[in-house]
Amino acid sequence: MRHFTSVTQLGSLDEAFAKARYVKENPFADQELGKNKTLLMLFFNSSLRTRLSTQKAAMNLGMNVIVLDVNQGAWKLETERGVIMDGDKPEHLLEAIPVMGCYCDIIGVRSFARFENREDDYNEKILNQFIQYSGKPVFSMEAATRHPLQTFADMITIEEYRKKERPKVVMTWAPHPKALPQAVPNSFAEGMNIMDCEFVITHPHGYELDPAFTGNARIEYDQDKAFEGADFIYAKNWAAYTGENYGKVISTDRSWTVDSRKMALTDNAYFMHCLPVRRNMIVTDEVIESPQSIVIPEAANRVVSAQTVLKEILLGL
Ligand code: CP
Repeated sequence: MRHFTSVTQLGSLDEAFAKARYVKENPFADQELGKNKTLLMLFFNSSLRTRLSTQKAAMNLGMNVIVLDVNQGAWKLETERGVIMDGDKPEHLLEAIPVMGCYCDIIGVRSFARFENREDDYNEKILNQFIQYSGKPVFSMEAATRHPLQTFADMITIEEYRKKERPKVVMTWAPHPKALPQAVPNSFAEGMNIMDCEFVITHPHGYELDPAFTGNARIEYDQDKAFEGADFIYAKNWAAYTGENYGKVISTDRSWTVDSRKMALTDNAYFMHCLPVRRNMIVTDEVIESPQSIVIPEAANRVVSAQTVLKEILLGL
């Protein structure tokens, strides 16, 4: 593996899960693999889990780690070509990227959708420039359209907790006061399309995602109906994707909040969320604190997913 930007690059899922299990059971077995290798983690956006879990994964592999928050302490970066740079951005991404490539062996990039131009976001304009100009393997730490390290952790968690050969997995939209990217739901949908499960997506009208990601999912506009018999409930907010509403909040309807009444419709489903989560908007205190909530083991698996991917990239250097 050279670059990692989508869970579709994992190859055989059985093999990917086996590799993840090995990493989980033997976290320090590959300390020599990363010796004298440097990971640069670059953040255009905030993070808690991705930052800590990826750094921990790299340390488990014996790597050196440099973390740069682009918006804190670095020169402000111009990202558009052809701009007359007489404003507040003294450095262009087209010099910054190859320079950063000189200082490391692998680059992780977090760069969210900007919601200014859907085409730019869905063409992964920032991430692809790193792939094109850094000269180094690049992996996504959540880009404009996908969050593959999160999704791989979610898939590992479902594999660990599933009680049925083919569980019913329901991804539900839930309300949030701010516009959030579609990266997590897109990526999760991509993951569920390659896992053996019955996959249902439920959301209010107007929150349809890009069909390129939702694939074979059944779309159900009645949330109660979607929850019936579910084995996993995966809650997430996202901003509208379609038409003029791209990047907008078009509903904060709290009747979509995941609560105990809705969870009672399921087959004793596990509750999942990538975190951070806004309590009593996305999910009630009662549900997230219930024994069926697996948000903490899900977050713990972020180290496993990052370490499994980093190990594959190191093996390919
Ligand atoms: N789930 C996730 O990516 O968390 P952070 O935004 O805190 O990294």
